[in-house]
Amino acid sequence: MASIPATGLGRMFQRKSVLQIQAELEHGELKRSLGAINLILLGIGCVIGTGIFVLTGHAAAQWAGPAIMISFVITGTLCGLVALCYAELASALPVSGSAYSYTYASMGEGAAWIMGLLLLLEYGLAASVVAVGWSGYFNSLLHDFHLYISPALTAAPGVPVTNDAGVVVGTGIVNLPAIAAITAMTLLLIRGVSESATVNNIIVAIKLTVVIAFIVIGSQHVHPALLSPLIPAQVPAPPVGTPMDMGHQIGRALWEVVTGSGTSRYGVGGVIHAAAIIFFAYLGFEAVSTAGAESRNPGKDMPIGIIGALVICTILYIATSAVLVGIVPYQSLNNPAPIATAVNQLGMPWFAKLVKVGAIAGLSSVMLVLMYGQTRIFYTMSRDGLLPTQLALVHKTFKTPWVNTIIVGLAAAAASGFMSLDALSDLTNVGSLAAFALVCVTVVYLRISHPDLARPFRTPLFPFVPVAGAIMCAVLLMSLMATPATRNFFLGYLAIGIVVYFVYGISHSKLGKGIEVGGHEASPMERP
Ligand code: ALA
Repeated sequence: MASIPATGLGRMFQRKSVLQIQAELEHGELKRSLGAINLILLGIGCVIGTGIFVLTGHAAAQWAGPAIMISFVITGTLCGLVALCYAELASALPVSGSAYSYTYASMGEGAAWIMGLLLLLEYGLAASVVAVGWSGYFNSLLHDFHLYISPALTAAPGVPVTNDAGVVVGTGIVNLPAIAAITAMTLLLIRGVSESATVNNIIVAIKLTVVIAFIVIGSQHVHPALLSPLIPAQVPAPPVGTPMDMGHQIGRALWEVVTGSGTSRYGVGGVIHAAAIIFFAYLGFEAVSTAGAESRNPGKDMPIGIIGALVICTILYIATSAVLVGIVPYQSLNNPAPIATAVNQLGMPWFAKLVKVGAIAGLSSVMLVLMYGQTRIFYTMSRDGLLPTQLALVHKTFKTPWVNTIIVGLAAAAASGFMSLDALSDLTNVGSLAAFALVCVTVVYLRISHPDLARPFRTPLFPFVPVAGAIMCAVLLMSLMATPATRNFFLGYLAIGIVVYFVYGISHSKLGKGIEVGGHEASPMERP
C-alpha cells in the first residue's frame, strides 16, 4: 500500500497509514515470545541504573536535601501520566520503532524526524550517562581491593574526582573505564546476545536484591533527625523580612522555572529542579514499547509491562531515597557512589561490596538495552530512507546492524569519556522530556484524527492525562533549560538536526518517493 508521493514541503506531513502499520505487523518475522512478566522485567532492567545509584545522591546534596523523596513522587507522577499515553499507543500500534513510529503514523514525517532527534538524546546519550555511573562504582570497587587508577583517567576533562568520602583527590582528563564499558557493550551488541532474555532476568534479580536489601537493612538505621527539616531553607535565602509560606514558595519556584531565573538550591525550587534531574532514573520504562512486535499479546501485555515496570520502580525509588537521606547527612552524598557511601556507614563492608557489584552488573544491562534501542531506531529510520542505507546493513554472520552499532558505540564512548555526568544527564533529560511531551500530544492527535482506531488500552480521564503529562514535561524541561549551556546545546542540536532533514532526509525518504517501506517489525535482528 504505497502512498501517493507528495511534493516539496508537503512531504514533511506525509504519514505512514495506521492501517498499513497494523497490516505489516500481521506479517512480522520476529518471534512473539514475550509475555507480561518478561515485559515488566525488560522495563525494570532498563530503568534501575545510574539514576538511583548515582544521581539521587547528587540531587539530594545539591538541590533537594531530604525532600529528594518528594522529587521522586513528582517525577513518578509525571512518568505515570506519560506511561498511560505510551500504553495506549503501544497497544494500538505495537511496532518496534517505538515513539518514532507512533509519530510517523500520526503526525507525519517531520514530527517523526524530530522524535528521532530527541530519541537520540534519550537513548544514545543516556548510555553515556550510565557508563559514567558505571565508572564511578567500578573505581569504588577497585579501591576496596586497594587497586587504583589515576584520578586523571577516571573523569571527563576538568571534572573534580572525589573518593567515597567525598574528598577531592584530583581532576579528570578522560574517563577511561566509561569508554571501556561502552566498547565492551558495543562488541557484545555486534556479536549478538541470543541468551539475552535469561541474562537480563538474572541481572534484574541481582539489582532488585541489592535495592531491596538496601531498603530493608538501611531502614533499621534511619536517624529521624537527618530528615528534618524535610525541605532545607532556600539558598540564597529569600530577602530578609519576607519569609515565604508554602504557597509563595511554589509560586516563586514556578516563576523561576518559567522565566529561567531559577538558581535556588533547596526550598521548593530545589525540589522541582531535583525532580528534573532524577527524571533520568525513570527513563527506560518506555523501552518496553520497543518490544511491541515481539510481544505475545500486545494489546493486553504492553500496558501491563509499561505500567507494571513503572509502578515497581517508583515504589523502590521513593523507599531507597528516603532510606539514603535517613542514614547519612544529605550533604555528604555528592560523590560517584552515594549508595555505597551510605552503606559504608552501616559498618557492613561486605554489603558495600555487594551493592557495588550489583550496581556494576545492573548498569551494564541498562547500557546494553539503551544502546540496543538506539541502534534499532537508527535501523528503522534508515529503512525508511531518512538516514543513509549503511545504517540498516545487517552483518551476514551475526545478523546485527554492525555499521550502525559501531557509529552509536563511537559516539557514546566519546561522550562518556569527555563529558561530565551533570552535562550528559541534563541533555538526556531535556531530550527525553521533549520526547515524552510529544508522545502525550500524539495521543490527543490520534484520538482526534483516528477516533475509530482499535485501542485495546485507552488512557483514562482523557484528555486530562495526556494534557497534564505534556504540561508537567514542559515545566521540568524549562527547569533544565534555565542552565544556559543546556539550553544552547539543545536548541543548536535541534536546529542542526532540522537542517539535516531538509538537506538529506526529505529528499531520500522512501515514503516521500512513494516507495513501499518494510514493516518496522520485520527485522532480522535479535533483542538483547
Ligand atoms: N533509568 C536508567 C538509569 O537510571 C536510564 O540508569
